Amino acid sequence: MQPGSSAGAMNLIEPTSPEDIRRRAEALGPWFHNIELRGVWTAPNHFLGNYPAVKWRAFADEIPKDLTGKTVLDIGCNGGFYSLEMKKRGADRVLGIDFDEDYLAQARFAADVTGLDIEFRKLSVYDVGALQERFDVVLFMGVLYHLRHPLLALDLIHDHVAKDMLVFQSMQRGSPEVDEVAENYTFWETAHFERPGYPKLHFIEHRYADDPTNWWAPNAACAEAMLRSSGFEIVGHPESEVYICRRTEAPHGTSAVYPSRGACP
Ligand SMILES: C[S@@+](CC[C@H](N)C(=O)[O-])C[C@H]1O[C@@H](n2cnc3c(N)ncnc32)[C@H](O)[C@@H]1O
Repeated sequence: MQPGSSAGAMNLIEPTSPEDIRRRAEALGPWFHNIELRGVWTAPNHFLGNYPAVKWRAFADEIPKDLTGKTVLDIGCNGGFYSLEMKKRGADRVLGIDFDEDYLAQARFAADVTGLDIEFRKLSVYDVGALQERFDVVLFMGVLYHLRHPLLALDLIHDHVAKDMLVFQSMQRGSPEVDEVAENYTFWETAHFERPGYPKLHFIEHRYADDPTNWWAPNAACAEAMLRSSGFEIVGHPESEVYICRRTEAPHGTSAVYPSRGACP
């Protein structure tokens, strides 16, 4: 059994010195999540400040304070910051998934040090169908723009794992304006494509911010349109990049093109 991976037992690391925690955290670094582990911060020099605590503060009130009886899936959990916060709110079950073993090791360490019973599993968002389980709360934060196939990911989340609430965040670039989108336009209407508030997904062919995994940067209108198009009704928008959504019927009645049955891996 891997530390931090069991659904039952907690793996509280025996009290050790801050120096020991610091040494072990550093060995697992670099960290993207700045988490306080018994007085030791994992990413004290984060380029975004005290991240993601600064982001979390802006939408924490939109998520039930008491998650007793609820299940949570944290997709792209990274060092586990949001998984820890969900468990602190009493969620019955928290599953964090990420396709990066280094980040999962950080998350397991953070859960162990804090004594929180969270399962972390290596899984890509494209394979969520393999979970065969729906979750009351799904976090899909900071992952969309790292994907070559972002709509496929949203469709798969809708088809296979979202039961009720989706908490979504994406980097956004371009205009923050959001225009109403008409049901249809004639072939000869083109002006709306030029408007800043029309949904636009900017493709990053090479690199952005030195990160080769940044593939897309939606503007605000596009982030909202993609959510709606995948069957997520936006019920809260507490922060410019964060949306609180409820799962609804997909407007096109379609499901993800691949894998259609959640058979892999
Ligand atoms: C910018 S970080 C966001 C971390 C965290 N969710 C947050 O909001 O702070 C993106 C995370 O998504 C993970 N990721 C990227 N592509 C993924 C995929 N296809 N499946 C699962 N995780 C993925 C990365 O490994 C990384 O941990």
